[in-house]
Amino acid sequence: MILIKLGGSIITNKEKALSPRRKTIEKIVKNLKKIDEPIIIVHGGGSYGHYWSVKYDMHTKERKYDLRGVSIVKNSMIELNKIILDSMIKNKLSPYCLPPTDFMSGNKPISKKVTEIEKIAKSGMIPVTFGDALWYGQNKTYILSGDKIMTHFAKILKPKLTIFALNEDGLYSDLKSKKLIRELKGERPLISENKMDVTGGMTRKVEEATKIAKMGLKVFFVNGNKPERIVKAVKNKRFEGTLFRGK
Ligand code: IPE
Repeated sequence: MILIKLGGSIITNKEKALSPRRKTIEKIVKNLKKIDEPIIIVHGGGSYGHYWSVKYDMHTKERKYDLRGVSIVKNSMIELNKIILDSMIKNKLSPYCLPPTDFMSGNKPISKKVTEIEKIAKSGMIPVTFGDALWYGQNKTYILSGDKIMTHFAKILKPKLTIFALNEDGLYSDLKSKKLIRELKGERPLISENKMDVTGGMTRKVEEATKIAKMGLKVFFVNGNKPERIVKAVKNKRFEGTLFRGK
């Protein structure tokens, strides 16, 4: 099973509120068609979920946030999710939409539900879920990042490969010269960050990727603008990006 996260920066234009990158989404979807293994898709919020989370000052910490903000973030994620599902249907893939409420209780994944998602993937359908605003309990809510969902799924399902599609070639050891880190073995890279999202941007991705690699699983950061690299990684195990290897 292959677990793929489509980062918000690749499926939306993060510079502009509520702007999907439809052509990029379509290109990714067309390449997903070439993978003949069960896959599970998780997508981020980009200029949909993040835009509204910032407006309503909502974060990953469980708190009493503005309940109208919760509704609006959720609604915007449904809208972005629909764009992805529509593109998949148009390209003759069979997505199976799963809002995270389907497999999360509070801030914990429900193992039985997550295991069921793998069965759905094995049937030939493609489960699709996303980062979202979630109910925690006692009128508290929180923003669940798609990156966190990746860690929950990886822990339970032990995918053959966990892929993060980004708007960059991978991780750079130096942002100025854009020198790509090709492989990491267990160590946690030091990265510099300039922009921050409510869920922590690249820092969060690296944190979750390191956790997944520590489970002994392979994690791959790849440029989502070059989705053929996703197919290559899955098919010929040629990694044009940053590969995290567990010890
Ligand atoms: C964010 O999910 C979801 C919301 C803000 C509602 P992610 O944290 O996975 O999104 P990206 O990939 O960084 O945009």
